[in-house]
Amino acid sequence: MKRAIAHYEHGELGYRPENDEIVCTVGVKQAISDAMLASLNAGDEVLIPAPCWTSYMSIVAMAGGKVVPVQTDPADDFVLRAELLERHIGPRTRWIFLNSPSNPTGAMLSQSNLQSLAELLRRHPGIRILCDDIYHRLILDERPFLRLSALATDLRNRILTVNGVSKTYAMTGLRIGWAIGDVDLIKAMTIVQSQTSSCPNSVGQAAAIEALGGCQDGVSRARAFYRRRRDILLERLSEVPDLKLLRPAGGFFAWVGCYDLIGRCDKEGKVLQNDIDVASHFLAHGVAVYPDRPFRAKVICAFPSPQARSVWRKEADASPEPSKHCKALRRHLPTSCRPFPLQGCTDPFTARSRRYPVVGLLLTRFRSSACERRGPSRYPRRARQSARSSSDAAV
Ligand SMILES: Cc1ncc(COP(=O)(O)O)c(C=O)c1O
Repeated sequence: MKRAIAHYEHGELGYRPENDEIVCTVGVKQAISDAMLASLNAGDEVLIPAPCWTSYMSIVAMAGGKVVPVQTDPADDFVLRAELLERHIGPRTRWIFLNSPSNPTGAMLSQSNLQSLAELLRRHPGIRILCDDIYHRLILDERPFLRLSALATDLRNRILTVNGVSKTYAMTGLRIGWAIGDVDLIKAMTIVQSQTSSCPNSVGQAAAIEALGGCQDGVSRARAFYRRRRDILLERLSEVPDLKLLRPAGGFFAWVGCYDLIGRCDKEGKVLQNDIDVASHFLAHGVAVYPDRPFRAKVICAFPSPQARSVWRKEADASPEPSKHCKALRRHLPTSCRPFPLQGCTDPFTARSRRYPVVGLLLTRFRSSACERRGPSRYPRRARQSARSSSDAAV
């Protein structure tokens, strides 16, 4: 497994990692948890650019660390700037997390962003950098994927790269991820892992070896498919008034600002005061919406229900008709506008959000649920065979 990981990663990393610089984990989730458990002391700070994947915060907290969110600006496409990051660095900062393309915004770091971040991090030698590259093969725009370890070779021993097969190969359930980094940290992470899961399952490892080393045509096809869905999704949503669209550069999520809806009344006369109210309003009309708080975003987000997902799938397959859900959204948008009830607003989160031009976003996961349902048939035949023989052996 480690040989397959080194072979798969070395081009973009800019070097070929040795076995003792790699640990294979039960998904990226465990790679991050192991790193935090192995390196944090109580109260150590971890800088996490927000909006961010929800689990980062829980993982850091579980390891006794303190999350310091670095709120990126929607008006700047949620890109992390070195000046912004610098304002959050303190004597107890131990880690900074980078996730490009990002879940949930789809924002990507450019070469100049990465270079200015590297410049800053050189001045703070006590800070490690965790690069979560799980969406690296799901870049939807014509942009190269760039890694900090390749651009700033002098920072390599402080960079922990985490990656896995969940997204690129839609092998979420097999739970295979890995981390590549400095030998001492990897050793400590391996010790932590040896007392939790011991190791990732052999069946998943067999399948992952095949996925990483096998023909990659399926990945290009999936990427083209996601790109098409993203474009259709954004086109349809652009027909809905008062939503602000952000074009994701990668990943399989789309964000839509719902700021203008906050402060309006629904048909029953209830004022939508915050993200939860807007989410509930859409849910009541059959559009699956997720409130923003778990993402540390000043936004609203939505994952379409399986039913809605199949609508996107049908649309991607050609229908020029606006989807049922976009129509529903348009029909049910609260229209009567009231002044924003800031004075009477008892919700501190919403009151704080007023500083940002975009408060509410819809987040749509436009990934094929069919891929997941189809499960093992997506894996190469040889992987299925070796998976079968390993599971037989295990039984
Ligand atoms: C940014 C990011 N990192 C890591 C993960 C988890 O990956 P895994 O399934 O390998 O644990 C996710 C899953 O949603 C994610 O969005």
